[in-house]
Amino acid sequence: MTDPTPNVVDPTVEGDDVDTAAIVNALRGVIDPELGDNVVDLGMVKRLERSADRAMHVTIALTTAGCPLRAQLMRDAKARVGSLPDIDVVKIHFGEMTADERSDVMARARWTARDNALKTDIPPTCRILAISSGKGGVGKSTVTANLAVLLADRGYTVGVLDADVGGFSMPQLLGIDSEIEGQRASEGKAVMKPVSKPIGDGALRVVSMGSIAGTNETEAIMWRGLMLNRAVQHFLEDVKWGELDYLLIDMPPGTSDIQMGLARMLPRTDVVIVTTPAKAAQQVAARAADMARKGYLRVAGVIENMGPSANPDGTVTAMFGSGGGQRLAGSIGVPLLASIPLDTTVAAAGDAGTPVVMENPDSAASAAYRDLADIVITDVAPPIEIAECSLRGTLIRAGADLDGARARAEER
Ligand SMILES: Nc1ncnc2c1ncn2[C@@H]1O[C@H](COP(=O)(O)OP(=O)(O)OP(=O)(O)O)[C@@H](O)[C@H]1O
Ligand SMILES: [Mg+2]
Repeated sequence: MTDPTPNVVDPTVEGDDVDTAAIVNALRGVIDPELGDNVVDLGMVKRLERSADRAMHVTIALTTAGCPLRAQLMRDAKARVGSLPDIDVVKIHFGEMTADERSDVMARARWTARDNALKTDIPPTCRILAISSGKGGVGKSTVTANLAVLLADRGYTVGVLDADVGGFSMPQLLGIDSEIEGQRASEGKAVMKPVSKPIGDGALRVVSMGSIAGTNETEAIMWRGLMLNRAVQHFLEDVKWGELDYLLIDMPPGTSDIQMGLARMLPRTDVVIVTTPAKAAQQVAARAADMARKGYLRVAGVIENMGPSANPDGTVTAMFGSGGGQRLAGSIGVPLLASIPLDTTVAAAGDAGTPVVMENPDSAASAAYRDLADIVITDVAPPIEIAECSLRGTLIRAGADLDGARARAEER
C-alpha cells in the first residue's frame, strides 16, 4: 500500500512558518462519510502548498471526479484549514484517483471499517459538536439541552453526551428519569444503551453519569465505579448509539483533559464556545478556543449567552454588558452564532426539566435558540446525507461488506 502522507511542498513564501503538521491534523477532521475515515489517513490529500499570495492550496484526490460529496468535502476542508491561525485563504483543488490509488483506498476503507467498530458506534455521518467554555456557569448545559431538543424536533436523531462527569445536568435539564440500560460484556467491558426520548419528528439519545444506575444502590455504585475513570471514553466506546444525525457533547467547565481526550478520540468534533458578554468570561473563553485548536479541533463559532434582553417598555437590560460574544468571535476569527438573552424563563424551564424552547416557545430566548438551530443545520454542521457515490457501489460490487465488517468486529 502506498504511503498516505500528503506531499508537502515547502512554503514558497520567504520567512513563512506554516505549520504543516497542524494542517494535516486539521484535515484529519474531514471525514469521507462513505468510506468512514478521514481524508488524510485514506490517502486522499495529495498535496499541500502555500502560494506566493499566502493562500494555502490543498489538493484532494476523489475516488471519482463526479463524487457528490465533493461540495461537502470542500466545505469541511476549507473550514478546518481556514480556522488555523495565519491561514486566511484556503483553496481546495480536486483531482481523480488512479485505478491503483482507488484500490488502495478501498483496502484502507475496509480496514477502517473493522477498526472503527471497535472504537465507537457513532456513525461516520454524524455531526459532532462539543459545547465548551472557559468559565463555569455560562450556560453550556442549557444551550446543549435547548439545541438538542430543537434539532430533534426538526426530525433529527440527536445524541447528547454529558461529558460533565462530576457535575452532570442533562437528565435534569431534559426531564429524563429513566436509566441507561447496561450489560456487562466480556473482559469487564460494558455495553450501554442511551436513554431514548422521542421529540417531535426526531429523538434524543442521552448518556449521562446521572442516568447510570442499577437495580439496586450497590449495583449503581459498582457501575459508577467502573465508569468514573475514563467515563467519556467509555461513553464513546461502549454506548450503542445506533443511528445519529448529531451528537452534542456538554463539556465540563474549563479547559480540561476531556477536551484533549476528545481531540484524540474524535478528531472530527467541532467546538462551539459559550461565553457571557462579560469581559472576564471572554478572556477565559479565548483560552478555551486556543486549547481546542492546540488539540487541532475546529472552533465553529461563539454563542453569547445571558446577553442583553428587551423589557416590555422597550428599554434594554444588559446585566453582563453587551457585545462580548461578538468581540470574542472577532478576536479568535470565527462567527458569532447566536446571542441568547438573559431570560428568567430559561432558568425556570431548566429547573422544571423542560427546556425553554418547549416550555415557553414564545420567549425571546426561545427565538434566539431557534435561530441558532437554523444556523447549525444550514451552516455550522449541515446534516450529512450519503448521496449515491460510485465508490460505495464499487466497494460493494468488489465484495467489500462494510456493515458486515463492523458487525463481525463487534462480535470479536
Ligand atoms: N439565557 C439565560 N438566561 C437566564 N438564565 C440562564 C440562561 N442560560 C443559563 N441560565 C441559567 O444559568 C445557570 C447556569 O447554566 P448552565 O448550568 O447551563 O451553565 P454551565 O455552563 O453548563 O455550567 P457548568 O459550568 O456548571 O456546567 C443555570 O441556572 C441556568 O438555568
Ligand atoms: Mg454544565
